Amino acid sequence: MLILAIESSCDETAAAVVRMSEDERTILSNIVASQVETHALYGGVVPEIASRAHIEAVSPCVEKAVSDAGVTLSDIDAVAVTYSPGLIGCLLVGVNFAKSLAFSLGVPLIPVDHIRSHTAAAYFTDAELQAPFLSLVVSGGHTSLYSVPEPATYEEIGSTRDDAAGEAFDKVGRVMGLTYPGGAAMDALAREGFEARGEGKRKKEDYIRFPSPAINDDTFDYSFSGLKTAAVNHIHNLRQKAGLSDKAPIDREEMAEIACAFTESVVDGICKKLALAIEETKTERLVLAGGVAANSHLREGIAKLCKKKNIKLYMPSLSLCGDNGAMVGAQAYYEYLSGVRGDTDLNAYASGEGAEAARAIHRI
Ligand code: KG4
Ligand code: ZN
Repeated sequence: MLILAIESSCDETAAAVVRMSEDERTILSNIVASQVETHALYGGVVPEIASRAHIEAVSPCVEKAVSDAGVTLSDIDAVAVTYSPGLIGCLLVGVNFAKSLAFSLGVPLIPVDHIRSHTAAAYFTDAELQAPFLSLVVSGGHTSLYSVPEPATYEEIGSTRDDAAGEAFDKVGRVMGLTYPGGAAMDALAREGFEARGEGKRKKEDYIRFPSPAINDDTFDYSFSGLKTAAVNHIHNLRQKAGLSDKAPIDREEMAEIACAFTESVVDGICKKLALAIEETKTERLVLAGGVAANSHLREGIAKLCKKKNIKLYMPSLSLCGDNGAMVGAQAYYEYLSGVRGDTDLNAYASGEGAEAARAIHRI
């Protein structure tokens, strides 16, 4: 089945053509038009600007996805689109475009949840991946753990009660003076910090310690706001003590240690709850997905945990961790098989609740 998939939930306009069947998962094209440089000027995504940029980019992206795939629109069997969660103005651009395209082509429209799509990126990395599995999605907007008994059934068993992990990475990066989004730069800085520790350049008693994001109870929930605030306060205090202004650059070694300590807390906290969830659910497979799943330390930490627990770990390749259309196409296939269809009244939903209601309506 050839699926044309469109993604516009945040600051990336993306379109892809994927071929999916019982024994095939192939990406024929995967086009991403990123707005990151535009939003970097403001230190974060500006919704109004993002929606307008999607309007300009969506048609060229889809055209390129179709031509790069070596197919024509008449070959497409279904059009898939992210309809939730995300920035509402951004989602509406993709939804309206997909709706018009599907009905003009006379093919089914498949509404897809963005978080499910992140998980589905892992289907391309490992041909053997099959439900049931646990999925941990760590992104700019979400940090949630799901039990996935079937590919189109997601039961949330844990989540963040405040900020998402990616949001915290970006905020700490911004306060340190890194370009938005700071996640990838924090990853590299943390590596320098871990190396400095390993080489004994920093004494153990001088290691920075930040609070854990793992909530101290028996749920699988996280809280990243305490960790984020502790790191931000630490940076402010550092500048104050040195008589520096709010935006003044900080010593590189100090930045590396802050990134290292922050990352250590994130990874240890995530692994602590994950270990509980693995024990309680007795899962044999874990998917780690979302933009922050590109973090090298998180990948290493979770790989170590899965080895210890003797379960198989599936992670999308780095290029499929961030927002893209192929992941939407993959999840769309399984939604399609489970009977999900969008109609002319398909709407976009910023949060999961409205989407759940819509899912009930559109399941046939
Ligand atoms: O999944 P995604 O592309 O968009 C959302 O759905 O939110 O995730 C974007 C997030 C940003 O916060 C970005 O800083 C973070 O993923 N990110 C990383 C890394 N690469 C991207 N965070 C930590 N380490 C990385 N290597
Ligand atoms: Zn995303």
